[in-house]
Amino acid sequence: MASQLFAKKPLNVIMQEATATHEHSLKRSLGPINLVTLGIGAIIGTGIFTLTGVAAAQFAGPAVVLSFVVAGIGCIFAGLCYAEFAAMIPISGSAYTYGYATMGELVAWIIGWALVLEYAFGAATVAVGWSGYVSSLLGYFGAKLPFNPTPSIAFSLFGHALSAKVDIFAFAAIVIVTAILVIGVRESANFNSGAVMIKVSVVLIFIGLAVVYAFGHRSHMIANWHPFIPKNLGQFGQFGWSGIMRGASLVFFAYIGFDAVSTAAQESRNPQKDMPFGILGSLIICTILYILVSGLLTGVKNYTTLNSPDPVAEGAAAIGVGWGIVAVDIGAIAGLASVMLVMLLGQSRILYTMAHDGLLPQWISRIHGRFRTPYLTSIAVGCFVAFLAAFFPIVFLGLLVSLGTLLAFTIVCLGVWIMRVKRPDIPRPFRAPWVPFVPIAGMVISLTLMATGTLAAKIAFGSWLVVGLVIYFGYSRKHSQLRIRARG
Ligand code: ALA
Repeated sequence: MASQLFAKKPLNVIMQEATATHEHSLKRSLGPINLVTLGIGAIIGTGIFTLTGVAAAQFAGPAVVLSFVVAGIGCIFAGLCYAEFAAMIPISGSAYTYGYATMGELVAWIIGWALVLEYAFGAATVAVGWSGYVSSLLGYFGAKLPFNPTPSIAFSLFGHALSAKVDIFAFAAIVIVTAILVIGVRESANFNSGAVMIKVSVVLIFIGLAVVYAFGHRSHMIANWHPFIPKNLGQFGQFGWSGIMRGASLVFFAYIGFDAVSTAAQESRNPQKDMPFGILGSLIICTILYILVSGLLTGVKNYTTLNSPDPVAEGAAAIGVGWGIVAVDIGAIAGLASVMLVMLLGQSRILYTMAHDGLLPQWISRIHGRFRTPYLTSIAVGCFVAFLAAFFPIVFLGLLVSLGTLLAFTIVCLGVWIMRVKRPDIPRPFRAPWVPFVPIAGMVISLTLMATGTLAAKIAFGSWLVVGLVIYFGYSRKHSQLRIRARG
């Protein structure tokens, strides 16, 4: 029984599946630049546009820039490990597939289940942020809507009167993105490239405006940066060094997404060369942009005033450039749309791979005859995520996402190390440098960031894992293709 749980999927089987071009396979349409844009499309989003302000105001002050550095370093270590795996096993499913090959089915299931959480709750988190920026832009122009975009509904549960907000814009955003995904990945990649160009331009515009402002307002900027690390207020996470760490676990959300590149391996034209390029290229570009934006934002506007749904737009307002506010709002709206797209794309691809392995029902892996996309999965996931986005608060969603992703990162780093020891013979078109230092550093940083999360998020994540284990032992083990093949 125990050895069965750790049954590994043989690498030759995985490689055969990777290269198979039978009628059910996905279209191979993505090149290296598509992959970098896919990565940036997944990475830059609610993290930089919204959470930077919250992290500075509540946890780290101007030292939020150090929070970005800590989280960024952790992601680069994990990214190097992802890149090694993505080039060695170029099949969609990312961390899940790597776990299957190295640590067996149960670990693979846990990673897959954590990734389902990452992408579903992540897309919902971003949809809620997107809704906030849409409202903010409409508010800027003084537009009056014929309806309330976030009406409250009252209901009773066990005799208790309760009320909940329904976020109509967030719901609509997920419905639209789902429709785009059902139509096809090439169309989706084009949509994504446009959105990425807009949001990167807007981030660069903000940086440019803030730098020009800094020349004329040196003393104002310097005053806002003092104290750079505000004194701890007596509790863990409230400024000081512990605040920097808690800030890092929050702004870690801003880096989530580069791993989505590896989920597109089956759609990549030359995965062995292009996957590392896509993962590391997008991660490095975003790290540099984040450090610049967070550093300048806390200089332009005092950190105590940044606790708002649109801190970057407020930064542009503080600079005093009206068109800058509109540009930031539009950039955020386009940018967050592309994040939702890549997250939902990654989600349906992971479920597709898990169903292909028999761990989830077969209908999930059914491909549409004309669009060549896993349309049923996209629609089912879209309904679930639209529900989450409509009803759940952004902080609850975001905290859960970080925990799930950090667990997947930890296991991927461990997997790279295990494979180097056990299977040094397998060709690795891309090798992470300084193994085992890099995987160990990736694991240590990920586990530390998990530890600095809140208790509520840890309990919710634990419950998610328990549900996953019930599904695994109740359904997946019996239907696992690996076990069926082993039984002959
Ligand atoms: N990194 C993505 C964002 O910040 C998830 O929205």
